[in-house]
Amino acid sequence: MTYRGLDQAQLAGARALVRVDFNLPMCDGKVTDDTRLRAALPTIERLRAGGAKIILLSHFDRPKGRPNPAMSLAAIAPALESLMGRPVAFAPDCIGETADAAVARLAPGDVLLMENVRFHPGEEADDAAFIQALARNGDIYVNDAFSTAHRAHASTEGLAHRLPAFAGEAMRRELDALEAALGSPVHPVLGVVGGSKVSTKLDLLNNLTRKLDALAIGGGMANTFLFAKGVNVAASFCEKDLADTAREIMASAKAAGCELLLPLDVVVAERLESGAPANVRELDAIKAGERILDAGPKTVARLHAAMDAARTLIWNGPLGVFETPPFDQGTNAAARHAAALTRAGKLIAVAGGGDTVSALNQAGAADDFTFVSTAGGAFLEWMEGKTLPGVAALQH
Ligand code: 3PG
Repeated sequence: MTYRGLDQAQLAGARALVRVDFNLPMCDGKVTDDTRLRAALPTIERLRAGGAKIILLSHFDRPKGRPNPAMSLAAIAPALESLMGRPVAFAPDCIGETADAAVARLAPGDVLLMENVRFHPGEEADDAAFIQALARNGDIYVNDAFSTAHRAHASTEGLAHRLPAFAGEAMRRELDALEAALGSPVHPVLGVVGGSKVSTKLDLLNNLTRKLDALAIGGGMANTFLFAKGVNVAASFCEKDLADTAREIMASAKAAGCELLLPLDVVVAERLESGAPANVRELDAIKAGERILDAGPKTVARLHAAMDAARTLIWNGPLGVFETPPFDQGTNAAARHAAALTRAGKLIAVAGGGDTVSALNQAGAADDFTFVSTAGGAFLEWMEGKTLPGVAALQH
């Protein structure tokens, strides 16, 4: 994967239009998780040190092409300001006279945050006139938002074709980590895919079975595979209509030489409640009314052994209902084992997608992983083997 990094950009005095992802969790106008703000700091600092004028572009939520005060980025400017310890100006529109005037006031090293790009319909339409209106305030374009790279929008893709385009520091780290995990990984490569539904991860499973040496399936989706193999899953969540699909995935994994690791035993309960009485069951001993809610100890031990044998791990989705103890134990144990191997230099471990980050954080394992992506949809589409328009536009 070849793209230009900031080391190849002429920064001094340049107006840098920087696409960040400040689509942050907010409550009552306050940022509740500033991970994505922090992720943008290395690029901002690099641009500042190089003497660029920094103009940040982002979307927030889905305002559908119309201004919506509840989806303004105005409250994010002070949060970024206190994180950086220096002023961050805010422009109440990302194009037009207001935007032009705010950009004209910038000195080298200054930082300006523009209002939500999705307040204009041209953003999601990747519209040429809107791209032009944005581009007139920039000399270079920097994309630092991998988590929006699956969108072919004006600020994520269109601008990259209009201005000299560069990958920011967070984007570069993300692309390098993903390349190490799936592009040209050190084999053997083990995948762990969990979460509840096979139906949402079909493309992902099909792509991974073609690329990985082994793939462990956990969470609710494993029940569908067990059911397809004739296991009585009793009252467990299960997409029974996808049994044929599950059998096809098992067959194609076998044909591709990817070993599928399905649960060997399970943790069951009658109710999904914190502290509910739970039992370990062999696969042929699940009783009527019982629900599979976590991986059993044999399954976890076999997964640990598979991690020991692997050199690269790619993880998406929890093994059980990790939000509700005691059904977090399988995910916690496996995440901690992967973290210990990574810390010891024996494993390259990359994880991402929705629940995965919270599950690894809860297990206290995230910091030891080689890389944990905060991207949701973009990470999944990348795992599905799809071309991400925002990344493709940076490639040369
Ligand atoms: C995200 O939070 O995953 C990104 O910001 C993308 O948001 P979107 O799904 O509204 O495009």
